[in-house]
Amino acid sequence: MSEHTYTPKSKFGKWFNDRLPLLSLASHLTEYPTPKNLNYWWTFGGILTFCLLSQIITGLVLAMHYVAHADMAFSSIEHIMRDVNYGWLIRYIHSNGASMFFLAVYIHIFRSLFYGSYKSPREIIWILGMIIYLLMMATAFMGYVLPWGQMSFWGATVITNLFSAIPLVGESITTWLWGGYSVDNPTLTRFFSLHYLFPFLILGLVVLHIWALHVPGNNNPIGIDVKKPSKDTVPFHPYITIKDLFALLIFLIIFSGFIFFAPNVLGHSDNYIEANPLVTPKHIVPEWYLLPFYAILRSVPDKLGGVVLLFGSIFILMALPWLDSSKVRSSIFRPLNKLFFWVLVIDVLALGYVGAMPAEGLYLLIARLGTIYYFAHFLIILPILSRIEKTQPLPLSITEPVLTGMPKTELIRSDKRDV
Ligand code: HEM
Repeated sequence: MSEHTYTPKSKFGKWFNDRLPLLSLASHLTEYPTPKNLNYWWTFGGILTFCLLSQIITGLVLAMHYVAHADMAFSSIEHIMRDVNYGWLIRYIHSNGASMFFLAVYIHIFRSLFYGSYKSPREIIWILGMIIYLLMMATAFMGYVLPWGQMSFWGATVITNLFSAIPLVGESITTWLWGGYSVDNPTLTRFFSLHYLFPFLILGLVVLHIWALHVPGNNNPIGIDVKKPSKDTVPFHPYITIKDLFALLIFLIIFSGFIFFAPNVLGHSDNYIEANPLVTPKHIVPEWYLLPFYAILRSVPDKLGGVVLLFGSIFILMALPWLDSSKVRSSIFRPLNKLFFWVLVIDVLALGYVGAMPAEGLYLLIARLGTIYYFAHFLIILPILSRIEKTQPLPLSITEPVLTGMPKTELIRSDKRDV
């Protein structure tokens, strides 16, 4: 973080700030120079912060009424829905909030992919983001187990069983995770404990994520380096705060649409049936946001192979800043990268679709082709593109093309210089 010249006006403010520079921090955050060309895709970081806080607050209230015991969990949820004042609202905000959180994080990630925000000098922001994402998936998975419905129980059984594919120690790891010989009460109580803990870890990581962001500053749609502060930047407050608030308002309208008009549309009806270890549901499907990974998992006939690909598909993203070595960040100036970006979007959507379908026939074929493309995109296409793609000329600054009417450009080839 840059040094501050901020001095509080009041005597008390100065005394306090000299001892704990919170006021300097607040002034840094409000004055933080932000590229003036940020578009609405940059509002999702703020929306995500809202989602995290909303999940924590509603979760705390739910935990006051929820009973983490295999005999009582299911009915305690019904108690929340029927007896607790506004319990239904709190629960629907929390359950639909998880979906909205993932919707926002997927937009945030794909924004980063399109505009090359993961590239130098923002690798750490990206890797922290990936760790947050992994924790989000673990938190959501464990949260889904808590209502102790049929999908909770069988989803937990399928996913925890994956660990048994690890050679030699797999069985022991699974027993250790379960706290017994099947998904049961000890599994439920530990999942509740961790589901409570993880959002606070995520919160800590988000602080680091934003701290790391404030070192180089934001990337921007044209992806060029911006001097801060300069003609190319505006102070965070009021320019970005008001824009973020407007985007949040639109987001909240959509969110409310789900809560008040279709609160169960994103969930599975089987989860309104209490868990029964003796009855397996016809199709065991995870929540929509995990479906592409589920498709990758099932695309391999071998269990261990599926698990390796599942984890590989996430860890590969961590290496992205090094797999894509093009010096030009934004896809606006990378025609081929832009094309393959959209192919990747379609690929992930297709994987999500087949993840919800039975793993057979055409669905299985699409899952296999989709998985091959997914890995090829990161391991083959991007490294090759970074070397051979002829990128378009970059403007020298954000403001210049606008003021002069004539974009002053500089042809930057990936081999020429760092952007
Ligand atoms: C709880 C989840 C998250 C929160 C609260 C969060 C918050 C933020 C905020 C406030 C920003 C700045 C504004 C913006 O660019 O939208 C940001 C930037 C960024 N985030 Fe996240 N983020 C989260 C998850 C992730 C994930 C999962 C990734 C990717 C794996 C990621 C990658 C990035 C990158 C690369 C930037 C820099 C963008 C730029 O320089 O403009 N974030 N994040």
